[in-house]
Amino acid sequence: MAESRTIGVFGAGWVGLVTGGCFAELGHRVIVRDVMPERIEALRAGELPFHEPDLPEVLERNRERITYTLDAGDLVGADAIFVCVQTPPTYSGDADLSFVWSALDDLPASDERQILVMKSTVPVGTGDKVRAALEGRGLSNVGYVSNPEFLAEGRAVRDFLNPDRIVVGAFAEEDGAAVEALYGGIEAPVVRTDVASAEMIKLAANAFLMTRISFINEIANVCEAVGADVVEVAKGIGLDHRLGPHFLRAGIGYGGSCFPKDSLALKQLASNSGYHFQLLAAVIEVNELQKRRVIQKLQKHLGKLRGKKIALLGLAFKAGTDDMREAPSLVLASRLLAEGAEVRAWDPVARPGKLIKGAVLHATVLEAVRDADAAVIVTEWDELRGLASKDVRDAMARPLIIDGRNLLDPAAARAAGFAYEGIGRPSSPFEGLPQTAEPEAKVSN
Ligand code: UDX
Repeated sequence: MAESRTIGVFGAGWVGLVTGGCFAELGHRVIVRDVMPERIEALRAGELPFHEPDLPEVLERNRERITYTLDAGDLVGADAIFVCVQTPPTYSGDADLSFVWSALDDLPASDERQILVMKSTVPVGTGDKVRAALEGRGLSNVGYVSNPEFLAEGRAVRDFLNPDRIVVGAFAEEDGAAVEALYGGIEAPVVRTDVASAEMIKLAANAFLMTRISFINEIANVCEAVGADVVEVAKGIGLDHRLGPHFLRAGIGYGGSCFPKDSLALKQLASNSGYHFQLLAAVIEVNELQKRRVIQKLQKHLGKLRGKKIALLGLAFKAGTDDMREAPSLVLASRLLAEGAEVRAWDPVARPGKLIKGAVLHATVLEAVRDADAAVIVTEWDELRGLASKDVRDAMARPLIIDGRNLLDPAAARAAGFAYEGIGRPSSPFEGLPQTAEPEAKVSN
């Protein structure tokens, strides 16, 4: 168990609340500060502004140890202040650090040594800039540490408390040691390094994960051309201990709040220094094209999409979240609408609001697929595992499933009377023929 300390957190967003809640779970006193009064009031009333498994329980269990405040002055005396604010991309693709700067402006003056710990994902070099800004303000008794987060949505609490590693990059040895000590009680390797390397570890880890996804998606596309099955191929690749099985699920491309933003930030960071990061540029482009390949699959079966009714099943960028940031569903819906298709959508939790203009949201899968010419699995929701049912087949105008997540068993879907297309899997027997309205007659093998 760690010695109990006082930890300040700037930003009551997803990263800030997971960080604050988990440090409280480790026995520390935590003060979470945000600038939005309604957010602070809601948190004091025990309401969370987003869905994240285990987090409500962690915050509730430790409520005695957590304070929510609007007043940055309350953070005076904290042993470490974690910066957990947004770093959205600017027009140039650089990261917008204005939220970081305003957190610094609010940093309370203290005679004690304080440590500012950067959890937000920032470009390499940010630590140097902040260090210089602190010196410029006469705050040389404030230490700076880069301590990036590696949390995935839907499993963030587990990721925080059982990390693969903890990365601590510091200018001063004592600051790094103090931050490492806060994680006492967690079993994980600790990577103690310099600030720039810690910043790069985060960006490079994400870029590598995205590279794996775009790689397996391209292998999937080649599999389609040559008649191999990418699910089998990924299994075979993943058993090589040098490669490992993770992040080899082919699909309709990655989305979310981190990958798309962080890949652009790293590409930009490299090109600002005069380096063209070709591989990352290709990873990003492959991902963009991958989202659009579903359209070609639909056209293969349906011909022109004008007037065709297409059901998009799942809107969230992945299962287990209502987050639609950079979700492939957004690109798909817009492309389909641009082709003149009629778009219906279903998701158990994500609500598109104005994000998708022109698509009609339905409350159930069955309603969404009624009279539809095709159903597209966009998010790997468990609720869709039984999609290849008699009810669905009877409801659809044409029993065609395009499975963007390889969620269903192709043979079972075809046996149930559907034309079925996965990603990187052997094609449906209806290949190339816009006549999927006659399933029984076609499903002979
Ligand atoms: C990710 C990283 O995992 C995390 O370490 C980082 O801090 C933030 O970004 P998250 O965006 O929550 O977390 O989702 P993750 O589960 O990693 O998936 C990212 C995207 O990749 C999703 O769109 C997912 O559908 C896609 N993906 C993932 C694949 O297409 N194939 C895979 O094999 C794995």
